[in-house]
Amino acid sequence: MKCPVIRPLCVFALVIAIGIGGSCKKARQRGIDDIKASGQLLMLTNAPFPPYEFYAAGGELVGVDIDIARRIARHLGVELSVGIRPFDELLPALAAGEADMVLAGLTINAERLKQASFSQPYIDAMQYLIILSTANIKVLEDLSGKTIGAQAGSTGEELIATAIADGPLHKTDCQLLALSDPTEAVAKVLNGELDAVVVDDTVALQLTAGHAVLSATPLFSQSGAMLSEQYGVAVSPSNPELLSAVNEVITELKSSGELSAMLKKYEAMTSQPPTAPGRVGQ
Ligand code: ARG
Repeated sequence: MKCPVIRPLCVFALVIAIGIGGSCKKARQRGIDDIKASGQLLMLTNAPFPPYEFYAAGGELVGVDIDIARRIARHLGVELSVGIRPFDELLPALAAGEADMVLAGLTINAERLKQASFSQPYIDAMQYLIILSTANIKVLEDLSGKTIGAQAGSTGEELIATAIADGPLHKTDCQLLALSDPTEAVAKVLNGELDAVVVDDTVALQLTAGHAVLSATPLFSQSGAMLSEQYGVAVSPSNPELLSAVNEVITELKSSGELSAMLKKYEAMTSQPPTAPGRVGQ
């Protein structure tokens, strides 16, 4: 079978399959010396999430996160291996010692900081909605009574779940549907299965570009505040040396302008590049 992504992924998928099948599930985090000795840096992600990780026309996994990870691997003098997991399994897999790091457009937040260490932020993002252009939805409250989709385990899902549990959407007959893949949003909003999908800004813009009947629009809190987030690289708290290496690479990519160039390159690679580009985190 032809592996649709970069070759080390096939090897990594096998390693994970053996790991899962084996009886030893005890977390054993690799230190930087183990990584160097093995010659491979193991990254987990969830795709597609354009422009951060998505499949190019030839089936190869590409994107901003993949390039950043490759630079981290190069900095350590090793090869990059990429494994794909459902989004909500990424941090548990990291905690179980099945990978060295997670890059997945992963928002840094208090809950996740209990499970992993995060690098300095590298992207500024915010929550957006994918809706029909005719729909008039701007703030959380406007989603009253609607059927809303969000990727399972994402901050978008958490936002809506909290609003339904004890926020502005409480008792408004809202339905929240967990999507395994945020790119399902387009078809489901087009066919009326969902009224709205909550997803990160750049991704919403990429997915709706070229669909005149769809809009990607910022979602605001009731008070009119933007729902801002920042992406970071997650590593095990027991691997501070890897975290330092990751931070060094991010500092370099930001200051050299390479991170901005990566964003531009991958936004342009999709058939209809969005009008509002992603922003390098400060
Ligand atoms: N930024 C959001 C979060 O961290 C969504 C990320 C989804 N990423 C992905 N590769 N599917 O929850």
